[in-house]
Amino acid sequence: MPYLYLRKSSFKRLFSFSKETNNTLREEKIIETKLILPVIEPLSQKPTFKCYTYEEIFEATDGFSTDNLVGRGGYAEVYRGVMKDGQVVAVKRLNRAADDERKETEFLTELGTIGHVHHPNVSSLLGCCIDNGLYLIFEFSLHGSVASVLHDEESPAISWKLRYKIAVGTARGLNYLHKGCQRRIIHRDIKASNILLTSDFEPQISDFGLAKWLPTQWSHHSIHPIEGTLGYLAPEYFMHGIVDEKTDVFAFGVFLLEIVSGRRPVDGSHQSLSSWAKPILNEDALEKLVDPRLAGDYDVAQLERLAFTASLCIRSAATWRPTMSEVLEVMEDEELLKEKWKIPKDEEEEDEFWGFEDLECECDSSFSSSPLNSISISSS
Ligand SMILES: Nc1ncnc2c1ncn2[C@@H]1O[C@H](COP(=O)(O)OP(=O)(O)O)[C@@H](O)[C@H]1O
Ligand SMILES: [Mg+2]
Repeated sequence: MPYLYLRKSSFKRLFSFSKETNNTLREEKIIETKLILPVIEPLSQKPTFKCYTYEEIFEATDGFSTDNLVGRGGYAEVYRGVMKDGQVVAVKRLNRAADDERKETEFLTELGTIGHVHHPNVSSLLGCCIDNGLYLIFEFSLHGSVASVLHDEESPAISWKLRYKIAVGTARGLNYLHKGCQRRIIHRDIKASNILLTSDFEPQISDFGLAKWLPTQWSHHSIHPIEGTLGYLAPEYFMHGIVDEKTDVFAFGVFLLEIVSGRRPVDGSHQSLSSWAKPILNEDALEKLVDPRLAGDYDVAQLERLAFTASLCIRSAATWRPTMSEVLEVMEDEELLKEKWKIPKDEEEEDEFWGFEDLECECDSSFSSSPLNSISISSS
């Protein structure tokens, strides 16, 4: 890799932190950048992504022409581009208007996290560019996001087979983030618009702007502001800012309901999908759950599995939700052992939280509840 002129200390770290072992140095850096993610421990493996010049990405995207704009998220715009060697890429550009330091931190967080993950169900980072702004370069996902495919009323409904493939692939990607890679990664923004589809419709988890790396000894993390997307937020996160793997498990449960029903996580009358689905799941009237656009064309056994998995994932009490490896067992094992998941009578969850997200506001988009960005650590 050529020598790089890096304006940001954070970028320097991304390329050299494997040498850093000194605790004081690490602590200073955490305070300096408010980035806790890439500096907690030295990594044995350096990221393999490449640095692009501004000219390369400018040319590839035809000068960031609006014809190439494929997506707009909370803090960035995404453009399709074709590199000189013919490779089709997605260039994610930090919004020029987003001069907020926190947005920049999110962007660096994404670079620091995704640069170190490798799994077929997680979006691959090709590189970055730090001239003239901040840019991340990814492989281009030909079919866009699950949200765009699922909710596009002009295209034919996606088949049951494909829905099932998306559900299982996404569960594998999330299990990898929680258990299979070097660190515990909590994504914090699992939702249909953050799951991309490759040319053969393999789902890939993307958008690591809110992701957190949790040290193994922490039971959870307490976060302010509460950021994420209404409809997908776990009660303990929404109410107390508590984040751990179960936050993602809850969001995954809502995502499953979305794939099965074709409904959005919050509907026009501000009812959350989870509170709409819960009575249907409880009375086992699964045909009411399924997207009517499928016209009855689905696999009943697979539906039962997905619905049961979703019902476990969206439990109010995080402790009674499965881990992602248990989710995979329920989704894929021959036998569906419902008894195993019964909550003992004396510990049955109260339903006090149900409907907590049925808010009186214009909201099915990403939000942040407060401008403060403080982090507290639980020692338990
Ligand atoms: N690699 C990619 N290939 C194709 N489209 C993409 C890619 N990355 C993002 N997009 C599109 O851009 C949208 C916003 O991207 P995302 O990374 O989620 O940004 P934000 O962090 O601003 O939400 C996605 O929902 C998707 O439609
Ligand atoms: Mg997004």
